Amino acid sequence: MLSVSSVVNPIQQAADRIRKTYHDVPAWGIVLGSGLGGLADEIEVAAEFAYADLPHFPTSTAAGHAGRLVFGELAGVPVVAMKGRFHLYEGWSAQQAVLPIRVMHALGARRLLLSNAAGGVNPEYRVGDVMAIDDHINFMFRNPLVGPNDDALGPRFPDMSAPYCPELIETAEAAARNAGFKLHRGVYAGMLGPTYETRAEYRMLRRLGADAAGMSTVPEAIAAVHLGMPVAGFSAITNECSPDVLGETTHEEVQAAADSAAGKLLTITRALLASVD
Ligand code: HPA
Repeated sequence: MLSVSSVVNPIQQAADRIRKTYHDVPAWGIVLGSGLGGLADEIEVAAEFAYADLPHFPTSTAAGHAGRLVFGELAGVPVVAMKGRFHLYEGWSAQQAVLPIRVMHALGARRLLLSNAAGGVNPEYRVGDVMAIDDHINFMFRNPLVGPNDDALGPRFPDMSAPYCPELIETAEAAARNAGFKLHRGVYAGMLGPTYETRAEYRMLRRLGADAAGMSTVPEAIAAVHLGMPVAGFSAITNECSPDVLGETTHEEVQAAADSAAGKLLTITRALLASVD
């Protein structure tokens, strides 16, 4: 049985380790998804920590995930970015997967930007498109808030009526309009993985109201809502999941396709960072 101190102490210990050598306060936390780590190159880096050097951090194993916490400025705004995240399919618990979100918050980050690579379940979505996550369905059936609640972090029963901040979505939509590309708005289905879905599963996900499917983001968004952090989430559509003409999906294709959406995500990220102080 987990105790409250087994949740809070790892957060403080990891935050203290960072504060020993890095003192600036990030305004935003950013999570860079599969194939989107290149966005980190836009950060004017002030400090970097390998996850392996931070107490209690799991060590990232997914291909295409570097496993570093990067501090610096993006478009003149102080940020902390996760280059590589923790997935439940790697065997981490939902609570382990969200430790970095809680550490970013403990260090002062007050807003969170999540990105991921996802399959386009909506038949109108094309590879290279970007979707603003408007809502999610938790098909992982795991929740990082299971266990004793620490009231200092957030409430026992968080409201989930609008987990993704509508104002941030509107800002992203305006940025996409100005830059001349389509930004979809839809429902993200969080899957446990690591298998991609079967044709029957994609068909089911569409019928149940999903527009995109991926293997991340949901635990992190839940942890942020619990902490009271406004969240924006974006999916780079990396494969088209039409059940009747489904081709093979490979991790390499997913990463290459994420590259083609990276420029759009950078445009959106800059607009979001500029929109609030
Ligand atoms: N399903 C789940 N996760 C994914 C997919 C998918 O089709 N594409 C990229 N990540």
